[in-house]
Amino acid sequence: MEDYNRILDDILHTVNSVDTPGKVASYIPELAKIDPFKFGVSLQFVNGETYNAGDYDERFSIQSISKVFTLSMAIQCIGDKVWERVDVEPSGDPFNSLIQLEHEEGIPRNPFINSGAIVICDILLSELENPEEEYLKFIHDLQGTDKIQYNEEVYQSEKSMGYRNIAMANFIKSFENIDNDPQDVLDFYFYTCSIDMSCVELAWCFQLFATHGKCAPDGTLFLERNQIKRINALMLTCGFYDESGEFAFRVGLPGKSGVGGGIAAVYPGEFSIAVWSPKLNEKGNSAKGMHALELFTTHTEVSIF
Ligand code: DON
Repeated sequence: MEDYNRILDDILHTVNSVDTPGKVASYIPELAKIDPFKFGVSLQFVNGETYNAGDYDERFSIQSISKVFTLSMAIQCIGDKVWERVDVEPSGDPFNSLIQLEHEEGIPRNPFINSGAIVICDILLSELENPEEEYLKFIHDLQGTDKIQYNEEVYQSEKSMGYRNIAMANFIKSFENIDNDPQDVLDFYFYTCSIDMSCVELAWCFQLFATHGKCAPDGTLFLERNQIKRINALMLTCGFYDESGEFAFRVGLPGKSGVGGGIAAVYPGEFSIAVWSPKLNEKGNSAKGMHALELFTTHTEVSIF
């Protein structure tokens, strides 16, 4: 029987003893001011066992990890029709790249790069009466509480600095792969990125992807097993942009990162794990977070490969 408390404490000690290079996201002041030395981890098994270490209870901006939640909602709404609007291939390009969109006529490579997530937000805008409320409700239902909220300052800053996203939404609209007003789509996209969660809360939400589609608090089926298979496959192949191969190579779990420094990952049928460390590597993924997850799967030998 593994002593997971000790394993997480050892990982915390190891990652904190290395001077990992990297920089906190600085494109908005709310992220730039975060203490770069924060580190938290929460490991939650599907049987309910939970192990935490470091700053596991402190909330941070989930940013692009939201793309997994919006994709899940879009699949709930329109099922396989999602794939008529967004492809399922790794991009090999940075998360905010516009390059492939021209050749591929406004069909984003996958739902986890910004262009893909923007199209997913357009789908939700068309399908839902009150997208912002329903997005928060989706997260509250997963959590079993209504404590998680969006961060107004982050939301406003994202809106005022989102030049590439604005370009992207308008470019996709020119290929007719956005139905709504691009400004409304972007407002919703920025809102979805502006949610604050702790490692404990994030790992709890990611139980959805570890339990083949069940909502953690009461076991309600949120998504079909086959739909979760697809989301997990996309996390493995596309969850870390042009570092997805590296993450699979080093960690060996499906996962998703955000520029707030969070990473959430799952071992389907076994556990979810969330780490947070704000310093990002040059690909925009948490440098210590990746290191910590690599240490975890190497030490416990529990990767999916
Ligand atoms: O769209 C953006 O630029 C951000 N709000 C989210 C980007 C992000 O988290 C990319 N992840 N590593």
